[in-house]
Amino acid sequence: MIVYVNGQWMDDSTASVSFQDRAFVFADAVYEVVYIYKGTYFKMDLHLERMQNGLDKLRIPFRADDLRSVFDELLQRNPGIERGILYVQVTRGAAPRAHGLPRLEQPTVVAYVKPLQYDSRIWDNGGRAVFVEDLRWHMCNIKTTGLLLNCMAKETALERGCDDAIFHRGEIVTEASASNLFIVKDGNLVTHPNGPWILPGITRHVVIELAGKIGIPVIERPFTKDELLAADELFLTGTTSEVAPYVEVEGQPIGNGQVGPITRRIQKAFRQATGM
Ligand SMILES: Cc1ncc(COP(=O)(O)O)c(C=O)c1O
Repeated sequence: MIVYVNGQWMDDSTASVSFQDRAFVFADAVYEVVYIYKGTYFKMDLHLERMQNGLDKLRIPFRADDLRSVFDELLQRNPGIERGILYVQVTRGAAPRAHGLPRLEQPTVVAYVKPLQYDSRIWDNGGRAVFVEDLRWHMCNIKTTGLLLNCMAKETALERGCDDAIFHRGEIVTEASASNLFIVKDGNLVTHPNGPWILPGITRHVVIELAGKIGIPVIERPFTKDELLAADELFLTGTTSEVAPYVEVEGQPIGNGQVGPITRRIQKAFRQATGM
């Protein structure tokens, strides 16, 4: 695999960054994961826009847009990826450890593409989730590499024999460990509004647009764990999870415990949008 590190192209086995990199020491970095469908990046503009927002909020002086040619070259240097992902990370750079934000000339930029082994199990049959208290910070709208609580939540789900963890702050459901979350109630989609407690997901955005097009109303408002458990249907959205139905939470069936008709309509519209 040929990867991009700080302006250079190299084999992934030889790629490295400084031990003083601020991402290593402080998670002082933003990242994006972009889906590749049929050899083409999906919704690149939206990913770059979100990355720029994160960079600006963290005051990392870097133009995300300048990476477009790098991303194109990555596909050329790693040909034949029908279905895969791009991973890109931009960090403030390397500097002796200190809490204040150093004004660095050279950010660290790492990017690679890789094919994805597609697994349709959850897409087809639905997954099972647990609830985990959301102890993350109040800047979840920035896609930083500080994902330890997301990782721990996922691990809790796996240890309990489930597929994913659904975060809640007190009674309010926010999102899942690496996805946004929609419930279906009485024919409407309900999802937590964008703000400090969730990542403004690109897939979430696409699903809201698609729902509008096929006549399914979407309400963006906070909702509770009880509302989720009493929902007709539930699905998660994310770049790698796509539109993932969930049929059981904390051992309780959602609706009739089967993937529901509205979720299937959204999945169909999503497949069409990705051209797969
Ligand atoms: C915490 C969290 N929420 C939501 C999402 C979904 O965002 P997107 O649809 O842009 O992949 C992700 C994706 O990684 C995530 O990590």
